[in-house]
Amino acid sequence: MPYDLRSLIQSRLGENYDLHDRYVNRALVKVLRTIGFDKVYARAEGPWLYDREGQEYLDGLGGYGAMNIGRNHPDVKKALADLMAMNMPNMVQMDCSLLSGLLAEALVKRAPPHLDAVFLCNSGTEAVEGAIKFARCATGRDALLFCKKAFHGLSTGSLALNGTGMFREGFGALLEGGAIELDDFDALERELASGKYAAFFIEAIQGKGVNYPSDDRFWPRAQELCRKHGTLLVADEVQTCLGRTGKEFAFQHWSLDPDIVTMAKSLSGGLVPCGAILTRRAIYDKTFSRLDRCVVHSTTFGRNNMAMAAALATLHVLDEEKLVENSARMGGALMDGFRALAGKHEFIKEVRGKGLMVAVEFQEPRSLLKRGVWMLLEKVEVGLFTQLIVMNLLKKHRILTQVAGRHMNVLKITPALTIGPKEVERFVSALDQSLEECLKLTGAMFEMGKNLAAAALAARKAA
Ligand SMILES: Cc1ncc(COP(=O)(O)O)c(C=O)c1O
Repeated sequence: MPYDLRSLIQSRLGENYDLHDRYVNRALVKVLRTIGFDKVYARAEGPWLYDREGQEYLDGLGGYGAMNIGRNHPDVKKALADLMAMNMPNMVQMDCSLLSGLLAEALVKRAPPHLDAVFLCNSGTEAVEGAIKFARCATGRDALLFCKKAFHGLSTGSLALNGTGMFREGFGALLEGGAIELDDFDALERELASGKYAAFFIEAIQGKGVNYPSDDRFWPRAQELCRKHGTLLVADEVQTCLGRTGKEFAFQHWSLDPDIVTMAKSLSGGLVPCGAILTRRAIYDKTFSRLDRCVVHSTTFGRNNMAMAAALATLHVLDEEKLVENSARMGGALMDGFRALAGKHEFIKEVRGKGLMVAVEFQEPRSLLKRGVWMLLEKVEVGLFTQLIVMNLLKKHRILTQVAGRHMNVLKITPALTIGPKEVERFVSALDQSLEECLKLTGAMFEMGKNLAAAALAARKAA
């Protein structure tokens, strides 16, 4: 009997959370159930998700920023179907495949001219791991500099560059590193002048909290000091590449020339894992320095045809649909819309971001009437107010979003770059209504707030 994936999915759809509770990550299942995120999505297209009943949800989470071209793009699906139909040889390993060469060529064409060598891998964290090795090998130094609140991945190398202690807890000693605050020029000078760092890893715009320096001179100064003291500048563009911030790369907002760039997430259209490291040929060749070192850094699936085909098609879609430009335009409109709400809602402290990487930071309101809900939740745990807004956006307005990081009151929105004015309006009016709805001391949102606070208290007690 031939294998029938369709009937398997049809017959078992709905068992998702029970299966994960039994066999996968129970803690995640519990969290999703607590916050009402235990939906069973059955279909997805562009910026939309659909549940089993066919109800549509506007996806403002975009697979943690991996869906720049929207979900299930027909061009990427066709490229993958064509590839399958051709029975191409895949992962021969001791050969040079055409598609990986073509993808490397395409990436070099999109990047600044000095980045002319490419390493292909499977994920963001793997791109960061490779960048660490390239930087150490090229400089002969061990230590790594990064920013507080940074996020560069969760394998042990990239974890060492994590600016949030919580992610490191329980995993033992990691690589040697130093952390500095954004905008702290003194720390920047002091640390780089030590001459001990192989690389300074930056996210030009940080994923956690959507933060970037308030002084536009900070990143250019960092680059200048890196050059002066022999430290390589690594721009981690895993989340921000390919138009997310309204430019091809986020570092271009500050006209930087990083020595190494890491990419992943949206690179292959959200259908197949794919990552890449772009660097100068001279840095690359320090790692692959002799014939017996030709595979000294390598990964089995790194240049696989599925990922290469999906990535090539994704780059085509980005250009055809002018998505980098659309990201800048729609991101601007979305931030304008949110800013216009600030006059009406004291909860809004700041709207920030670039392109379609947008954050709304909330604050304790001054008026007594509005302060109640804030205090009720924030006394239990910082960030719960935003969590309540996120829960309401999904339950009441069918919009999927996220809190931008632990213990912060920052709502983050990273939808497909394909969205238009209609979706922008839906985000803005849903936030407007949610900020009204959270003031009602009865009804669904009040219940949600109570349950959320109770769950946070119970979790704290258990810990
Ligand atoms: C800037 C940055 N670097 C690295 C990573 C890790 O990527 P991955 O989850 O593909 O390992 C992420 C993931 O969110 C990221 O945002």
